[in-house]
Amino acid sequence: MANSAKRENWGSRLGIIMAVAGSAVGLGNFLRFPAKAAANGGGAFMIPYFVAILLLGIPLMWIEWTLGRYGGGFEHGTAPGIFHSIWQKNRFIKYFGVIGIFGPLVIFIYYTYIESWTLAYSFFALTGKYMAAHDQQAMQAFLRGFQGLEKNEYFRTIAWAYLFFVITFIINIRVIYYGIRGGIEKLCKWAMPALFICGILLLFRVLSLGTPDLAKPAWNINNGLGFLWNPDFSALKSAKVWLEAAGQIFFTLSVGIGVILTYASYLSKGDDVVLSGLSAVSTNEFAEVILGGSIIIPAAFVFFGPQNIKDIASSGVFNLGFVTMPLVLNQLPLAALFGFVWFFLLFLAGITSSVSLAQPAVAFLEDEFDIGRKRAVGIFAVITFLLCQAAIFFLGRGVVDELDFWGGTFFLVVFATVETILFAWVFGMEKAWDEIHQGADMFVPRIYKFIIKYITPLFLFFILGMWLYQEWWPKIFMQGVGKENFYFILGTRIGLFLLFFALAVLVKIAWKKKREKGEKK
Ligand code: ALA
Repeated sequence: MANSAKRENWGSRLGIIMAVAGSAVGLGNFLRFPAKAAANGGGAFMIPYFVAILLLGIPLMWIEWTLGRYGGGFEHGTAPGIFHSIWQKNRFIKYFGVIGIFGPLVIFIYYTYIESWTLAYSFFALTGKYMAAHDQQAMQAFLRGFQGLEKNEYFRTIAWAYLFFVITFIINIRVIYYGIRGGIEKLCKWAMPALFICGILLLFRVLSLGTPDLAKPAWNINNGLGFLWNPDFSALKSAKVWLEAAGQIFFTLSVGIGVILTYASYLSKGDDVVLSGLSAVSTNEFAEVILGGSIIIPAAFVFFGPQNIKDIASSGVFNLGFVTMPLVLNQLPLAALFGFVWFFLLFLAGITSSVSLAQPAVAFLEDEFDIGRKRAVGIFAVITFLLCQAAIFFLGRGVVDELDFWGGTFFLVVFATVETILFAWVFGMEKAWDEIHQGADMFVPRIYKFIIKYITPLFLFFILGMWLYQEWWPKIFMQGVGKENFYFILGTRIGLFLLFFALAVLVKIAWKKKREKGEKK
């Protein structure tokens, strides 16, 4: 069954692979991954990481590609409709699907703002604006001034950050305005190769650093790579390390979010999902492990040495990307050029992910309310522009971390659990297996029938159970939240609840309309 003429299609197979890989390769690959690996056992982190790829990442990728393509055949591009087509008798399942619109929307709110910093810093690199900041403290002040967290010699207001946010937001909206083929596919087809060129350029630059200061022979690139990759196997005894690895797989592959469902809904029935899904995973892993794992931490090691690197590696992803890296690059010949290449690489990684985060909400309006794309994008733009203000102006109040926890961590696992159960148990593993293999260019190893049915759901339940056991109480009761931030976090939670509720009401209205239409027919 091909997609109806009403819905769009991808222009080419390469196009959708690039788009899914674009969604996956993001800020998570270049900033989050090296920080996580350094903090959780270095090379040893790769053991839980690869276990999580094999038992969670790849199965979820196949599940989402298959469910998305299946739902697209019923003209549904988002989880409420897709879940409903899988389990039509159940009246409530579509409300679980709300997570697949809510999650990406919440991530979009803060992700786009962070992405806009990378565009701003690309500009600052070329114009030499941060060159005057010579040490960690000064570069941190530059970042805090830019973010509007303090007034200092670098920035008096948040105006620069706001300007670049508006530019980034407009670029995102423009891309989705032109649709799947004319916007997203077109963007990813040039942005992904450009991203890899930037990444490989930086990789060679970092690997050729050698020992820049001969008076400090231990501060060399080999030891830098060793710092990140020498395994500390004792880390594997900690459940936290396994959870961190699983969390990284979700975030980096963009699974459990809802975006791959939507992208795959624009496929036709006979399009392969097995090899395409695997290609997207491989592309992401090359960008994450080879590029992400060789640039920032080894380079910082060479310039800051073995004593400081531990503090740097655990200083948080923003510090790594926006403080440490510009300081490192400033010490190289052609600093402006390499600074630009670094931040533009992050910008490309960011924008190809953020457009994918926008698509589910737009597809929901188009598919379930019969709203034209342009109007749907208009509604999306107005609502998200307003919501983004919270991330911009309350960044220092912990609002972004709160959004990231619910939208970018917790609900991913819940959503992945629901879709796996639906796929393997409600739809049924035999049917699911046939569905995966429709038009497939390769056969999925049979062991995956067992993994998808038993291991992936058990792993997901284990993650949820561990989270409930370890973190539920302090998280819900906001232990560790400073008094000054209490109302901001509470406000964020109320806002998130209202957003979820509003989406659920929209689902109810959409289905009521459908029923009425059906009755008339
Ligand atoms: N997958 C995207 C990233 O890694 C969201 O940033």
